[in-house]
Amino acid sequence: MDNTKKLGLIIGSLRKDSINRMVAEYIVSQLPENIEVEEIEIAQLPLYNQDYDKQTIESYDQVRQKIKEVDTVLIVTPEHNRTLPAALKNVIDIASRPHGDSAWSGKKVAVVTASPGTYGGRECGLDVRKSMQALSAKVMIAPEVYLSHASDSIEDGKVSNEKTQQYLTKFADALVQFIEE
Ligand SMILES: Cc1cc2nc3c(=O)[nH]c(=O)nc-3n(C[C@H](O)[C@H](O)[C@H](O)COP(=O)(O)O)c2cc1C
Repeated sequence: MDNTKKLGLIIGSLRKDSINRMVAEYIVSQLPENIEVEEIEIAQLPLYNQDYDKQTIESYDQVRQKIKEVDTVLIVTPEHNRTLPAALKNVIDIASRPHGDSAWSGKKVAVVTASPGTYGGRECGLDVRKSMQALSAKVMIAPEVYLSHASDSIEDGKVSNEKTQQYLTKFADALVQFIEE
């Protein structure tokens, strides 16, 4: 029996040395082999405009299709000005349209935020959850991960702090259960 599951990964940061990308890489390293991970790229997407619903935009079609194809989407993202980074909001909007054909409807979605700051990007994490609930996605409830002081856990481009590794492994285990449900 084929027990392969597809996980789409969205990184909310466009930055080359993104902490969130490092956190995502650690989580992905903890997943079993039957979970195929594919990054859903968001940097190249033109800013959403409702007029485009009547047109064919190739990059929009591709990203909508990718989200539809995967079993679960994992979003790992920083917080910008106490809410979502613009590029992340953009892909959420793009994939929510055209009206009646949202890629988010019924989609399993898990959210992780990480920040060098004290609050771990929590406001952003909560706002992503709010949008996803409004879009009828199935949001992974627990554990909630808003990783604060995240830069302190990174060395040579990797999550190196043992406690943070354990924390993220616990999340990865719960994510596997969520994907398999
Ligand atoms: C425009 C902008 C707004 C930011 N706002 C917040 C914020 O509201 N909360 C927070 O914890 N960090 C904020 N930061 C700091 C980011 O958390 C930090 O730059 C982080 O490293 C970005 O994630 P990345 O390393 O994955 O790119 C902001 C950074 C930028 C560039």
